[in-house]
Amino acid sequence: MTLQPTGGPSSPRPLVPAKAGRGPSVVAWPYPRYAAHRGAGKLAPENTLAAMRAGFERGYRMVEFDVKLSADGVAFLLHDDTLDRTTNARGPADALTWAELSRLDAGTWHSRAFADEKIPTFAAVAEWAIANGVACNVEIKPMPGRERATGSAVALEARALWRDAPVPPLLSSFSENALAAARDAAPELPRALLLEKIPADWRERLSRLDCVAIDPDYRELSAEIVAAAREAGYRVMTYTPNDPRVVAKLVSWGVDTIITDAIDVIRPT
Ligand code: G3P
Ligand code: MG
Repeated sequence: MTLQPTGGPSSPRPLVPAKAGRGPSVVAWPYPRYAAHRGAGKLAPENTLAAMRAGFERGYRMVEFDVKLSADGVAFLLHDDTLDRTTNARGPADALTWAELSRLDAGTWHSRAFADEKIPTFAAVAEWAIANGVACNVEIKPMPGRERATGSAVALEARALWRDAPVPPLLSSFSENALAAARDAAPELPRALLLEKIPADWRERLSRLDCVAIDPDYRELSAEIVAAAREAGYRVMTYTPNDPRVVAKLVSWGVDTIITDAIDVIRPT
């Protein structure tokens, strides 16, 4: 099977083939080797602007963060399905409007130093990242039942936010329905499929979603899998190794971008 992850006329994409080689050529990869997970979500409250700044201060020039929709359709950053762990509210994350979410304290749970840090909108984080030359891995993290709506809304907003930016945001999701909706809404934005386990039919799944990269749990990777992904024309991302020895091994296998929490340990060279 021949895969064409660089896309055809029906799938315009700013990323172009990097080089010809054996098998399909991989796409150019404008992203850094290291990305700060949920911002720098251990040093500061995850998925907040404070976390983004903490990664930036330590030299990280790419961030990964999680985006979902409020009750009234505003894209904002939060990992969990509920507000319980990372805010001072309780209940489903999409039960509140943005006006209500914007008033919550999303910092005290982490430490007193970040008391009353706010949940950011997707737009606010995009503006900060573009202004500071920070590349973004936008993980579409839909609430159950809102997969297509979230994928579509996030992709359309990303297209508008990054319209004049030199490096497009990389959209990813564990939800294939969300990624399919993102592809339908903004086919030119690059996509990666997140995988807790790598299924036997990974090539077909990536092809169907017109992805540029596979993005599995690092424990699923091996030198052989990385080579097979490259051979099929895909870039390789992974989450979330935090041991520098493991990270060095992943780099030696040719992993393109590593999403890590170990911001204070791993230097983003
Ligand atoms: O995008 C990689 C990683 O963030 C996926 O896992 O649960 O931390 O969003 P999670
Ligand atoms: Mg994530």
